[in-house]
Amino acid sequence: MLQFKKSLSSGLKTVLDSLNTSHGLDEEKIAQMLEYPPDEKMGDIALPCFKLSKSLRMSPVMISEKIASELSDENIEKIETVNGYLNIYIKKSYFSEKVLGGVLEKGNRYGSFDFGNGKTVVLDYSSPNVAKPFHIGHLGTTVIGHSLKKLHEFAGYNCVGVNHLGDWGTQFGKLIVAYHLWGDKATIEEKGIDELVALYVRFHKEAEEDQSLNDKARAEFTKLEHFDEENIKLWKWFIDISIEEYKKTYKQLDIEFDSYCGESFYSDKMPAVIEEMKQKNLLKIDDGASVVDLEEYKMPPCLILKRDGSSLYPARDISAALYRKNTYDFEKVIYVTDAGQSLHFAQWFKVVELMGYEWAKNLVHVPYGKVSLNGEKLATRTGNVILLKDLFASAIEKVKDIMNEKNPNLENRDAKAEAVGVGAIVFYYLSNNRIKDINFMLEDALNFDGNTGPYAQYTYARTCSVLEKAKDVEKDVSISYDMNDKEKALLRTLSLFPEKVLQAINDYEPSVITRYILDVCTDFNGFYHDCQILGADDESTKVFRIKLTEAVNYVLGNAFSLICMRKTEKI
Ligand code: ARG
Repeated sequence: MLQFKKSLSSGLKTVLDSLNTSHGLDEEKIAQMLEYPPDEKMGDIALPCFKLSKSLRMSPVMISEKIASELSDENIEKIETVNGYLNIYIKKSYFSEKVLGGVLEKGNRYGSFDFGNGKTVVLDYSSPNVAKPFHIGHLGTTVIGHSLKKLHEFAGYNCVGVNHLGDWGTQFGKLIVAYHLWGDKATIEEKGIDELVALYVRFHKEAEEDQSLNDKARAEFTKLEHFDEENIKLWKWFIDISIEEYKKTYKQLDIEFDSYCGESFYSDKMPAVIEEMKQKNLLKIDDGASVVDLEEYKMPPCLILKRDGSSLYPARDISAALYRKNTYDFEKVIYVTDAGQSLHFAQWFKVVELMGYEWAKNLVHVPYGKVSLNGEKLATRTGNVILLKDLFASAIEKVKDIMNEKNPNLENRDAKAEAVGVGAIVFYYLSNNRIKDINFMLEDALNFDGNTGPYAQYTYARTCSVLEKAKDVEKDVSISYDMNDKEKALLRTLSLFPEKVLQAINDYEPSVITRYILDVCTDFNGFYHDCQILGADDESTKVFRIKLTEAVNYVLGNAFSLICMRKTEKI
């Protein structure tokens, strides 16, 4: 459809030029005015002519009449004018030949672009705080971040995924104190991160009664900052245990990071950066602490160093950005975190700009809303959290139950249950506009009959099964064929995929792809119910429908991979 839109916009521009020489609109602007009507009875694509009234100084009705009589394009079937709207109907042959041919030719590259031109995009995502639980609140940054990585790769960028671990800070002081008081090496070795989290939670409980624990924790962290040997050893050990555990979850999502350089990595790079800020007259002492004043930009000051000289979160982010610019020479960096950190990013982006780096404008914060589970709020400190791994495990268990019931002889059940269970969660999460708060309802996510991941995977499996049965059919027949409405609707939807990819990238919004997957599934299932594929009356119909199914298989497969959902050939 993108191609059709292009030639249509150029045709429209020619007509507009003939109506008024100074309308000032280029093809791009005209293309942006085009809309997809909600109902196919209103054409395949429409131009609301009121958008042109001002530039042309004519009424929408006049404009639409004029264009309708003058526009010509080999792929247009007919044009109707309705109340100032230009409704354009595209020839079926455009879909059956160009669109279908295009999808099959590009295959698993259909929908991809090359405008990224190999330029580097760094994606900073997931980034849990070590020793604190990796919980459902991190689902957003993990799956949105990874999906944005896939989308940028699909557009030809070279992507670097960085897990900016929260591996530095007072929580380590707390953990060290808790370990000395109540911890036990063997238990930690056996239970891993769960035991670390239990110690962390216990620390907070006991510290409510005994304030001195907090002082002790601060003292231990200060020792760590001065590279106390024993504390460094413990700190490294806690991190190794945590990463090992995170990797199990990442594996279930098929996520691999290019770098695990966390906050601590920048400790020795910070002094130079702070010196640079001083040289550039940006630092101000405020009650003993060093800050960058941002009043002029209507933001609170950005905190760089505490009174005791230890660095703060923004200082580490600024150092990391400078390091990454030198190391990766990025085109842009995308930071995915919950919306609660929006001010933090706005502040330190501004500081980088004030330091004189024009690339500060290429630092992008992508925020997302809060998550609750079955209506309950989550709180790390009290231990009322749902760990991501437990959420996945319970989804996988439930899928196994459903599979046992529906398809007791399914082969390779464990792997499939993992793909469907984890996929269900990812899909459910990514169906929402990222900025909206979401209440996670596990039952809804797993509903095979709803607008869910399992439904989409089931549809994909259906295409695989048709193609498997059709594998011996001679398909070397010309694609020219007079389609019915269901077939056309399906192809029209398939033709929109590249635009959806663009939109998802431009808006940093994977949900565009998730919702699009549902459109494809609805149209394919409608077609599947109404049209015999392998049992079609004649050979050319049969071949056409097999090819159409193959195209759906490609589009769904490509789209699944963009939202990090596995494909399942049989469920
Ligand atoms: N560790 C932080 C957290 O869990 C997120 C880090 C995001 N990335 C960054 N460069 N600040 O809240």
